[in-house]
Amino acid sequence: MNEAAKNVAINGTASEPIASELFSPITVGRWQLPHRVAMAPMTRSRAGQPGNVPTELMTEYYRQRAGAALIITEATQVSAPAQGYAWTPGIHTPEQVEGWKKVTDAVHKQGGKIVSQLWHVGRISHRALQPGKQLPVAPSAIKPEGNAFIVDDRGNPAFVPFETPRALDRNEIHGIVADFVQAARNAIDAGFDGVEIHSANGYLLDQFLNTVSNQRDDEYGGTVANRARLTLQVVDAVLATIGADRVGVRISPLGQFNSMGMDDPETLYSYLSEELNKRGLAYLHLISPRSQVPSELIGSEISKQVNLADRILKSIRSRYDGVLMLAGGFDRSSAETSLANGEADLLAFGKPFLANPDLPKRLQLRAALNEPNGQSFYGGGASGYTDYPFLVA
Ligand code: PHB
Repeated sequence: MNEAAKNVAINGTASEPIASELFSPITVGRWQLPHRVAMAPMTRSRAGQPGNVPTELMTEYYRQRAGAALIITEATQVSAPAQGYAWTPGIHTPEQVEGWKKVTDAVHKQGGKIVSQLWHVGRISHRALQPGKQLPVAPSAIKPEGNAFIVDDRGNPAFVPFETPRALDRNEIHGIVADFVQAARNAIDAGFDGVEIHSANGYLLDQFLNTVSNQRDDEYGGTVANRARLTLQVVDAVLATIGADRVGVRISPLGQFNSMGMDDPETLYSYLSEELNKRGLAYLHLISPRSQVPSELIGSEISKQVNLADRILKSIRSRYDGVLMLAGGFDRSSAETSLANGEADLLAFGKPFLANPDLPKRLQLRAALNEPNGQSFYGGGASGYTDYPFLVA
């Protein structure tokens, strides 16, 4: 037994479950969920090679976490060019769909629910990961800061600087929409309960939303409506294909990750949340704007950014009538507060879920939590992946 498990044995299991809103059921789209503790999408970079295929080990990882109200998978590429990191899984080949079937089966056998997070990375990629060693694509030919995580010619992982991407031609954009639609179909074939469309964190759809990465002069750039057009087209095409009541959308207003950060997020996200509200989605998933306020800010800059974050959250909440899921550094207490304040309906937990396969039970019992090990987040095998201990009964 490791130290964390010992603590649980000593401290954790005696208390009775505590009644709280976190453990009240909720209807989300076509699903009845038993509580409000969802598993946030997390890249774990353990897809089988060649082919970025879900493995038995991934099946075991998700099976262990089936006690989540809803599992959102790690971001999953909708096509080969949609990939931006070594070893992330896809959902565009028959082998990948077969691999995911085993995952969804395992989760369903445990009584859980799981959606596939559909992803195109856009410019957060590198030729080394692209079919035919082509340049990655983006709304505009603007290079992000930082490094891509690739596998080099000898098969070794390496960090290499991002490149200037190729701007998508207007006529190519329908192909991007079609890739999301096919991936959503594949997800349903693979037995997923639904999909989450990734329009956050500086990846392709977010690159279109954002003025820093989108300087197009066609109907996909410039005005707020134009920048939101691709996200809404993808959403509309996917919900027309599989039904709105099993489609979620993830957004990250105020996000800085992957060279994001726009001048006027309030206007864009007000518009986008009003538009998404018309679609009758299962849920809207928001990375908490407060969690995106940079920690290095000082003095009055902090309160300015916190006020902006709170305004954006309120603005989205007032415009979006459906189920709102919040993610971003929550613990039991802040999750309870968020539900009690009416800020959110569901909370997504990332690292705590990674380190605690039985997180909902632990939160309900107020048991001690295992600490996540950052060394094993990305890549590797079972260590730091499927060997985090369950609560000792
Ligand atoms: C990552 O792989 O680091 C990653 C993927 C998807 C996200 C955020 C980060 O939304």
